[in-house]
Amino acid sequence: MIPYILEWGSLLLRWLHVIAAMAWIGSSFFFMHLDASLRAAADIPAGKGGVGWQVHGGGFYEMRKYLVAPDFMPEELTWHKWQAYTTWISGFFLLVWIYYAQASLYLVNPDVLPLTGLQASAVGIGALAGGWVIYDQLCKSSLGKNETVLGLIGLVIIVAASYGFTLVFSGRGTLIHVGALMATWMAGNVFMIIIPNQRKVVASLMAGEAPDPALGKQAKQRSTHNNYLTLPAVLLMLSNHYPVLYANPAVIPPIVFLITISGALLRHFYNVRHSDHDKSPWWVWAVVAVALWLTFWIAMASSPTGRAQLGLSEAPAAVSTAAAQPHQQPPPAKVVEIVTSRCAMCHAAEPVWDGIQIAPKAVLLDTPAHIARQAEAIKLQAVVSRAMPPNNITDMTVDERLALADWLRRATN
Ligand code: HEC
Repeated sequence: MIPYILEWGSLLLRWLHVIAAMAWIGSSFFFMHLDASLRAAADIPAGKGGVGWQVHGGGFYEMRKYLVAPDFMPEELTWHKWQAYTTWISGFFLLVWIYYAQASLYLVNPDVLPLTGLQASAVGIGALAGGWVIYDQLCKSSLGKNETVLGLIGLVIIVAASYGFTLVFSGRGTLIHVGALMATWMAGNVFMIIIPNQRKVVASLMAGEAPDPALGKQAKQRSTHNNYLTLPAVLLMLSNHYPVLYANPAVIPPIVFLITISGALLRHFYNVRHSDHDKSPWWVWAVVAVALWLTFWIAMASSPTGRAQLGLSEAPAAVSTAAAQPHQQPPPAKVVEIVTSRCAMCHAAEPVWDGIQIAPKAVLLDTPAHIARQAEAIKLQAVVSRAMPPNNITDMTVDERLALADWLRRATN
């Protein structure tokens, strides 16, 4: 019963999380674009806002921005905050649901650090809270006045955190926590700075006073940070589906570095382009292409089989020189033995592993025919990466992985 509830809870939470994030990021992109495309308006003093025209859904919109605020209090005011709050809250529950409640599968790797689920969760939550305090104080400090310096320090913190997490968590747990750290900064910016500042502005307007321009400036700074963090954060949230990214914890910090600068640069391209089409910084695409290529290369070179394919090391000696076999050929007895003893306790019609009641992702590895059918998936999960068994929970040896690699080389391409 419990595994079904865990699976359903995960599905429903993820559904909510993705929808809320779409709404948040969508409105965030919209307002960044709007800000960049505003043009001077006759009735708004220079530097105090502007106007932008848009066409959508059967009509034309005239958007006016008043910086910091108009002279009057509008009768109706739409606030943009629940998208951010819902995203963070559902994301946090998802983190608890998957990584903290099922820590032995997803978060704790005893080879890294034999923590209990509770200890690992405490480290995770502590890191998110501590990470927010450090970031927030930095923004408010004198260093925060220089955007470039602040951005570089932020990057250093992100990469350092990713390294720190690799000393405590599984690779997969590491990447999700780096993503969660960024997301916590983003949601914290909305909850602790942007919305409270807007409330103060509204209070001044109601009192008939001129609002403090510093409030608007601070909110804009944090909103810009959010914008640059969006793309890397989303990629890190998706990373858990891609074992190639987290298979080798030693290379996670450089991978996080490259992903973060790639995502931030891509946003930069659009921020500049939306304010002045002719100044589009096309060089960004070249840098991002190189960075992503490097990421691919680092990930591949850190896997023993990947290294062999790059020609960096000898391919593991073949056990037999038999010609390539089609998938449907039954795998050798040795392979069947390895897979049934290391994988089938979970991946069977009736799993015997405590806490698993249905074969995960419907992947069955309990008969020679099933194993042959899953050849490609086995290659990806247990040979190219070491995502399976989760945290090597069933103690699969390197020799066994090499034996699978040898079979797979003949069974697949
Ligand atoms: C302790 C239980 C357990 C063992 C042992 C185990 N797995 Fe898994 N496997 C899982 C779980 C849980 C998932 C779902 C992971 C997720 O949700 O991302 C999974 C997912 C998979 C997937 C699907 C991945 C995807 O996202 O499409 C494959 C393929 C796989 N395992 C292969 C293997 C192989 C090969 C082995 C043995 C080398 C193995 N597993 C051993 C629990 C296990």
